[in-house]
Amino acid sequence: MAAFEPVLLRNRGVEQSTTLKVYESRGGYQGVRKALKQTPDEVVEEVKNANLRGRGGAGFPAGVKWSFLPKDRTRTLLCVNADESEPPTFCNRILMETDPHQLIEGTIIAGFATQSQTAYIYLRVEFHEQFHIVQKAVEEAYAAGYLGKKIFGSEYSLDIYVHRGAGAYVCGEETGLIESLEGKRGWPRIKPPFPAVEGLFGQPTVVNNVETLSCLPHILERGAEWFTSIGPDHSAGPKLFCVSGPVKNPGCYEGPMTISVRDLIERNDLGGGMRDGKKVKCVLPGGVSMGALSVDELDMKLDFADPRNYGLLGLGTAAAVVIDESVDMRMVLQNLARFYGTESCGQCTQCREGTSWMYKIATRIASGAGRISDLDLLLETARNMGMMPGYSICGLPDGATYPIETIIKKFRPELEASINAQAPGKAEALFTVLN
Ligand SMILES: Cc1cc2nc3c(=O)[nH]c(=O)nc-3n(C[C@H](O)[C@H](O)[C@H](O)COP(=O)(O)O)c2cc1C
Ligand code: SF4
Repeated sequence: MAAFEPVLLRNRGVEQSTTLKVYESRGGYQGVRKALKQTPDEVVEEVKNANLRGRGGAGFPAGVKWSFLPKDRTRTLLCVNADESEPPTFCNRILMETDPHQLIEGTIIAGFATQSQTAYIYLRVEFHEQFHIVQKAVEEAYAAGYLGKKIFGSEYSLDIYVHRGAGAYVCGEETGLIESLEGKRGWPRIKPPFPAVEGLFGQPTVVNNVETLSCLPHILERGAEWFTSIGPDHSAGPKLFCVSGPVKNPGCYEGPMTISVRDLIERNDLGGGMRDGKKVKCVLPGGVSMGALSVDELDMKLDFADPRNYGLLGLGTAAAVVIDESVDMRMVLQNLARFYGTESCGQCTQCREGTSWMYKIATRIASGAGRISDLDLLLETARNMGMMPGYSICGLPDGATYPIETIIKKFRPELEASINAQAPGKAEALFTVLN
């Protein structure tokens, strides 16, 4: 098999890769030039043909999303979702700190395709350094005439604003992001109306993820056929994967969506295998919200289809956290339940109460005072919250329940044994902070 040639990360490690000069010297801003010579509908069609599926978690096709915008609209707004708050996920951060002009080029292409007048890059508040990098790149693009009025000498005009986020996980949910951008508390909105019809400031709005938009310059430059030649039909194009935990080379990698979880952990050009002779016990392969795999399930492909075959919610952010044999699964349950209990925005009763009940029950189990029936209580609570049963405004509780349910189902004998032993669990650092 021919070695995969990085596309999205091709400028990583190149000196001064964040500057316009270096980006252009390496072929940047060619895709947008091609796009601006076409009609917006032709660009939408090209992106549909490429089957570019959203990289923000749900995998919704970008071109299809754009075509939901009302035909008779007079104003359109584009939001770039750079909130990236899903634990073990840092591919958007890497894209912004190594190649901000790739994101700006992708944003202009999406802006043109959707006929947006304004784009907002909503950046996770903790991304201090990345904020300055992206802001500087935006200023450079304005100075070169690539943003503002009649860009690249065309009739199209676009302004980009970089907006720092509000510091909550739920602000990454697209309507929470929109509320936050409007200066309000980041509370997700009831849908419909969907953002395409009534979004930011009541206007038709598109929200796309950083990685999704970073694919666009390459699709426009090399064509939809090139894009679909990478990976399986349902999961076309290059993809970023993160791996963290006790592997030799934790980090962010790029490849086709033919890579399995085992490849990501073991291959020398990826995770490089487990560190210090440790053995894998469990992997949360899609960020933490998609659910858990046992050691027997590592052949799962990191694509948009296979995770469902393993009882997971989806591919999510394709950021895997590896948990080794020494970790007490009670502590994993508690750690995860704490995250969602803290991050629920509190609007919906099932989510607000359900996530905090789950945290209380998981804490009782972790403290050594749990009962076997607590596991069923957790499962029952999980079944009664979330968007899928129709009990909540947003998908946060679905993400909260999948890891809890899959861990209980796949690690029940271990959990029961430790509950029966009635000893408190040992705290383990679950998430490895990466540079
Ligand atoms: C609780 C929650 C948090 C989310 N956080 C993010 C995020 O940080 N970044 C992101 O791109 N999408 C996030 N999403 C998904 C967005 O709602 C939306 O689907 C995505 O930005 C669309 O972009 P895409 O179509 O390009 O993937 C989140 C969803 C939920 C329910
Ligand atoms: S589901 Fe949870 S996070 Fe989402 S809006 Fe309701 S309370 Fe807030």
